[in-house]
Amino acid sequence: MEKLLYSCSATITCHGETTNLSGRAKVGNIIVQLSTWPAISAAMKVERDLHMSRGDGETSYASNSRLQEKSILKTRPVLHEAVAASYETSSLSSGGAMVVADLGCSSGPNTLLVVSEVLGAVADRREAELATLMGGQQPPPPAKHVQFFLNDLPGNDFNLVFQSLELFKKLAAAKDKGDSLPPYYVAGLPGSFYTRLFPDHCVHLFHSSYCLMWRSKVPEELARGTVVNEGNMYIWEATPPSVVKLYRKQFQEDFSLFLKLRHNELVANGQMVLAFLGRKNKDVLHGEVSYMWGLLSQALQSLVKEGRVEKEKLDSFNLPFYAPSVDEVRDVIKQSEVFDINHIQLFESNWDPHDDLDDSDDLVLDSVQSGVNVAQSIRAVIEPLIAHHFGENILDDLFKIYARNVAAHLQKVKTKYPVIVLSLKARRVPKYHANDSCYSLLTHGQFM
Ligand SMILES: C[S@@+](CC[C@H](N)C(=O)[O-])C[C@H]1O[C@@H](n2cnc3c(N)ncnc32)[C@H](O)[C@@H]1O
Repeated sequence: MEKLLYSCSATITCHGETTNLSGRAKVGNIIVQLSTWPAISAAMKVERDLHMSRGDGETSYASNSRLQEKSILKTRPVLHEAVAASYETSSLSSGGAMVVADLGCSSGPNTLLVVSEVLGAVADRREAELATLMGGQQPPPPAKHVQFFLNDLPGNDFNLVFQSLELFKKLAAAKDKGDSLPPYYVAGLPGSFYTRLFPDHCVHLFHSSYCLMWRSKVPEELARGTVVNEGNMYIWEATPPSVVKLYRKQFQEDFSLFLKLRHNELVANGQMVLAFLGRKNKDVLHGEVSYMWGLLSQALQSLVKEGRVEKEKLDSFNLPFYAPSVDEVRDVIKQSEVFDINHIQLFESNWDPHDDLDDSDDLVLDSVQSGVNVAQSIRAVIEPLIAHHFGENILDDLFKIYARNVAAHLQKVKTKYPVIVLSLKARRVPKYHANDSCYSLLTHGQFM
């Protein structure tokens, strides 16, 4: 029997020309209805438009993610502890395999660094387990199998991930002559982490690095233009309090939803290690991350003055982003009542990813070079959103101006990113009401 399952639309862009498809397509016994859709919608849709710069070329995220790599290395001890705890928990569940998901894995060396860190930590646990059994009568338990899920939004360069995975497996096998690495399996999982990604209670460990400052959407009033953050893409010095309130509310709703979703997916006592950009300064208008986006807004303002960007375009560009303070994070966790905090900490990381001077050092050796380095690392993250909204032709000039703005700023004050690191343990019994589960949220359409 033929069944009309989906009514959807499709847009194909080829050599800069956009074609809208409409009509019906048959896939097996399922008919897919293709209907018209406005060409390129100006309004940003995070699930469709947010992704890091693809490939492994000069401006790609894969070639410009040293800042995020430093954070993964810094949080290594916290991750290893969580792996050790998950190792024990997974030994109690049927089958004994350990399920690990990296949320917002992106593409490039960091994706595989996380896989490699987890495998190394599992190998350490196995070694310790075997050492305690040495000389005893008991036969050693079988090696633990690890199932990884690498999650990101659908626009992520999963092809690059899968290609590099093949090389990673060969290198890991060649290096691992003593067979200490556990058997492991890796699958890609496209989808927003603000939706359900797994069935109930099947994940032992969630990891996410440099992702949770991204919101599920731009706050609605800002997106609709009923409230305007004139000349800025994010909260900065002149941002009205009404806009700050909208961003903060969006963070609270998103983070609270994220915790509930992950709690449903984690086994009892499951672990979660999260690192994301935060705010050290209590004053929202002068946060360190606000400067990062503020200086980019200033670069866009320069292009407005030159007549290359329309002012309305700049005013309607708002980032789906919020860098919370530790207290704001703690409040949401407390209110959610489904996680216990093992560990919470804020560390600082130099703006320039190639500046390895001690974090307590306030010296910028070469502010011009640091400006270029910062601009490159931010470009790899934000270029797709900027290109979608303003067009590609401004990119090179915009990031040159940005590099100069950053250099001038660093000459005055060495600025650092505050990174919040969290290790959480899922409580056994969810305290929120059963009717308030993810599935009931889904039926009420709150995921749209
Ligand atoms: C700065 S990158 C960090 C990537 C990687 N974890 C690392 O440490 O290098 C942030 C990633 O989060 C992803 N992301 C943002 N919002 C997301 C969402 N709602 N669901 C899944 N991934 C998301 C982005 O697509 C991007 O790949």
